[in-house]
Amino acid sequence: MIPFLQLLSLVFITPKVQEEDKTKDYKYDLSVYKRGDLLEVPRTLFTHFGIYLGNNRVAHFIPDILPMFTKNVEDIAKMVTNNRLILGVIAKAASVRVDSFADFAYGSEVLVNHTDRLCHQPPLEGDEVARRAEKLVGRCTYSLLWYNCEHYVMYCRYGVAISYQTCQFCTAVRKIICSRMNAYLTALCGIGIMLYLESLTPLTAVTTLLVAFTLWMAS
Ligand SMILES: *[C@@H]1O[C@H](CO)[C@@H](O)[C@H](O)[C@H]1NC(C)=O
Repeated sequence: MIPFLQLLSLVFITPKVQEEDKTKDYKYDLSVYKRGDLLEVPRTLFTHFGIYLGNNRVAHFIPDILPMFTKNVEDIAKMVTNNRLILGVIAKAASVRVDSFADFAYGSEVLVNHTDRLCHQPPLEGDEVARRAEKLVGRCTYSLLWYNCEHYVMYCRYGVAISYQTCQFCTAVRKIICSRMNAYLTALCGIGIMLYLESLTPLTAVTTLLVAFTLWMAS
């Protein structure tokens, strides 16, 4: 797994410096946000959540591959780009970190307290929400399905670690995997028959990788 990720990181992280400039020209009015507000932004495949701590600081639980490759605190502290995020999801490396509002928002529109309407629990008091968020800052493993950025903010704001997007996400992933799986299996059957009298090694390898990857992501 590790050499594979190193290869990916060379391809994705190193040449994409221009991606860091994404939020430079975007201005946010921070006076509307209060300590303990729950912030929500769209990021690649899913919605990302954070807790506003005040003074242009947002605590959020985000996947990030970079700490697996460098101990350079300055590099890690830079905004988490989408490539770092996606590789972090695959490697299940994540942490609760504090970033500036602009780095958290990543150039998108921000929704505030949106989950208050979905959650049956009333939110905790703002300062308590922020204190809980601050207490959890540090490294942690990440599983997209079982513990993610939404669980983190739900725990901080309502005292319950639940996720509304997990269910939708599971269904979506299952659909993709099932339809892809069908396609692959059909193709593999065809190849399998062709290779029947020859060596079956490539076929076995592909199947094993596919199954292993699916199990890894779902755990
Ligand atoms: C978000 O919720 C907090 C209470 O937890 C409230 O004080 C604040 O005004 C809300 N912010 C917005 C923008 O609705």
